[in-house]
Amino acid sequence: MIQIAVIGHGVVGSGVVDLLHENKAGISSRAHETIRVKYILDLRDFPELPYASKFIKDFATIENDDEVRIVVECIGGVKIAYDYVKRSLLAGKSVVTSNKELVAAHGQELLELAQERNLNFLFEASVGGGIPIIRPLSQCLAANEVTEIAGILNGTTNFILTKMIYDKMSFDDALALAQKLGYAERDPSADVDGHDSCRKICILASLAFGHHVYPEQVSTEGIRNVTLEDVSYADVWGGSIKLLGVVKPCGDGKLDMCVAPMLIPKTNQLWRVDDVFNGILACGNATGDVLFYGRGAGKMPTASAVVADVIDCTKHFNARKYLYWDKGSPDLVIDASKSVFPMYIRATGLPADELTAAVEKVYGSCQKLTREGVDDEVAFIVPAAPYGEQCSKRQQLEWCGVKVLGFMRVFAD
Ligand code: HSE
Repeated sequence: MIQIAVIGHGVVGSGVVDLLHENKAGISSRAHETIRVKYILDLRDFPELPYASKFIKDFATIENDDEVRIVVECIGGVKIAYDYVKRSLLAGKSVVTSNKELVAAHGQELLELAQERNLNFLFEASVGGGIPIIRPLSQCLAANEVTEIAGILNGTTNFILTKMIYDKMSFDDALALAQKLGYAERDPSADVDGHDSCRKICILASLAFGHHVYPEQVSTEGIRNVTLEDVSYADVWGGSIKLLGVVKPCGDGKLDMCVAPMLIPKTNQLWRVDDVFNGILACGNATGDVLFYGRGAGKMPTASAVVADVIDCTKHFNARKYLYWDKGSPDLVIDASKSVFPMYIRATGLPADELTAAVEKVYGSCQKLTREGVDDEVAFIVPAAPYGEQCSKRQQLEWCGVKVLGFMRVFAD
């Protein structure tokens, strides 16, 4: 029998305990061991639960109990989670976590600590919830050079954008609905400002390219400024708007990365990823595109990935899972101003003809987008150029009296 401890009895932690109970026979058979939850650490009491006696409040009980072989961390955040995970590894226990913030901030150090002690530190649930992505990227695609990863990595923002696209809800109304349905937190910043997507693309980038990428190194923009007008122009263009995390190698071991709302054409597989679903497109030089799709959040999908890691840990006590990346460096990610993108620009402030002339003078030949019955603004898709150059040209436009209302990258196929 393998004894484990679960830290945190929130959405994911309670899902882990439920799933271990619900699928007990199958899990034991696949792990070749019975897996028993010995302790659940939480500050709250849950007297109504049938397993109320397992609850403890002092982490030292877990740390000092040699019978506990695996610690499952589901408290989230960085501070306490980092302390408990580190102490668990130092105490000789393998760790499974769903905590993307922790892995994005301290993954390299914790992987190194686990490696030194011949332990496992697994985090399949940290990206894409129930979607298998960490293991496929580190094992199944290991023969490839990854040429690009692009992902819709946040279910809340994808839900909001889907409501804006299909139901013509404003951003504020869609956010309020997401909060009502329990997708978005009362403080929605981590989701809508792109930080959650950023942490996840950092984890995927670290894994695919072998060096730790810190969230602070990645230019990150959320979806607060996306309007229903932008959504309509994207439709006229033949696509929609998605919050994407993108990374690709750009020579000399450097990475070109960003998180931003982007126009994406209908021909791209990610265009079909709607509602709270996540989608990750990984391109390998041998495989070509590989698409991962599914529920990126939620109690049971996330618990599914956590419990799978617990099973894997159980089967690999004496043979480490290969999951590792090296230290990062301050210049690993190129400056966002150098990333090349075509841009979408929505503008007003001049009569339509003069507006078009001004845009063409600054950007050269562009694709013009118009909406029926709208004559006080025009949108354009302008040719690809480094983002810094696109921003300088935008300023030139504004000096000509143009008011830029929308300015977004276009994710070219
Ligand atoms: N807030 C996240 C999302 C949860 O909406 O995708 C999963 O990481």
